[in-house]
Amino acid sequence: MLNLLSPQTPDKIIGLMQAFRADPRTDKIDLGVGVYRDDEGRTRVLRAVKAAEERLWRSQDTKGYVGIEGDPAFLDAMRGLVLGGSVAPERVAAVATPGGTAAVRIALDLVRLANPKTRVFVPDPSWPNHAAIIGFVGLERVDYRYYDAVGRTLDMAGLLADLERTGPGDVVILHGCCHNPTGADLSARDWAEVGKVLARTGALVMVDLAYQGFGAGIEADAAGLRALAASLPEMLVAVSCSKNFGLYRERVAAILAVSADAATAGLVRGNLSNLNRQTYAFPPDHGARVVTEILGDAALCDQWMVELDSMRFRMQELRTALAETLRDISGSDRFAYLAGQRGMFSLLGASPVQVAKMRDEKGVYVIGDSRMNVAGLTEANIPRVAEAMLAAGL
Ligand code: LMR
Repeated sequence: MLNLLSPQTPDKIIGLMQAFRADPRTDKIDLGVGVYRDDEGRTRVLRAVKAAEERLWRSQDTKGYVGIEGDPAFLDAMRGLVLGGSVAPERVAAVATPGGTAAVRIALDLVRLANPKTRVFVPDPSWPNHAAIIGFVGLERVDYRYYDAVGRTLDMAGLLADLERTGPGDVVILHGCCHNPTGADLSARDWAEVGKVLARTGALVMVDLAYQGFGAGIEADAAGLRALAASLPEMLVAVSCSKNFGLYRERVAAILAVSADAATAGLVRGNLSNLNRQTYAFPPDHGARVVTEILGDAALCDQWMVELDSMRFRMQELRTALAETLRDISGSDRFAYLAGQRGMFSLLGASPVQVAKMRDEKGVYVIGDSRMNVAGLTEANIPRVAEAMLAAGL
């Protein structure tokens, strides 16, 4: 029977990770998968994480199962971190999931249980796994305009016009901050506009929040989704701790589902628990406990915030440094957009041929749609990256 399976191609991010690993060149530069690296190119464990792990090692005396929804203290901490005081706690049902991908998957499974005919509106472009998961769970995908590739900004007029076409029973995926792959975000005013349209059409918002703290800060990066949570009756949030806590391989994430009232929240909680049970039963606990330990302790939390701020500031500096190097070499301001965008990613606007040229001739790896992971730049590799971009004809 197993011979009946169809061959699968890894998505463009996973495919590039594999290609990078297989490349024997020692001076290759990885600007592909979204992982933060320091100036030595290393993804270090945060000091706050190490300290929390040490405390856990001393105090934890059981590895027995936690509840099917995950540790309630972790879920409370995530609710506070993401939603702040925007929604009454009794309207929020939460479950822990193994990473942001499972949060997106389980949230879409929940949507399918509620309405198998749901159309899921996805920004164009978006993280490739959005489309893959939507297709896999059997929901219809509709792309909405998001990015003006010529102006390298948000296409707000296109976005609003497309979201006007949504209705009750539809879902709209929004990136909470640090849009992946464009780095072009909604302003506070844009979020309010989107909220008005969706309040009118009745579509359900699903926010994917994978980079809180990487854009403008922990509070600022949640402000848009909090405004929607405060004004709309329902909302789903898939929140990941992979990047802001540097806990990539620990798979730490949650779904926060906001319902119109406490009774509906109970119904949602039961469904989410059931989906957890059928998919992986108990979500992983170690990383979630590390996050809870950090957020629940003022000194550890301060330490984490300092480390998070330093990652954000560094990414901003790298953006500016690359834009300035490109300006100096090319004598043109056409790369200034890199400094103005936020978070880990920007689209270079390179064709597939140009992307291949950067990779094959210069060993500089960006995703096929020309997404660059800014956090893979270092002071030392910026001149080579800039040269590779110009040599490819950008
Ligand atoms: C990315 O977009 O590179 C990250 O979110 C990693 C992933 O799972 O794709």
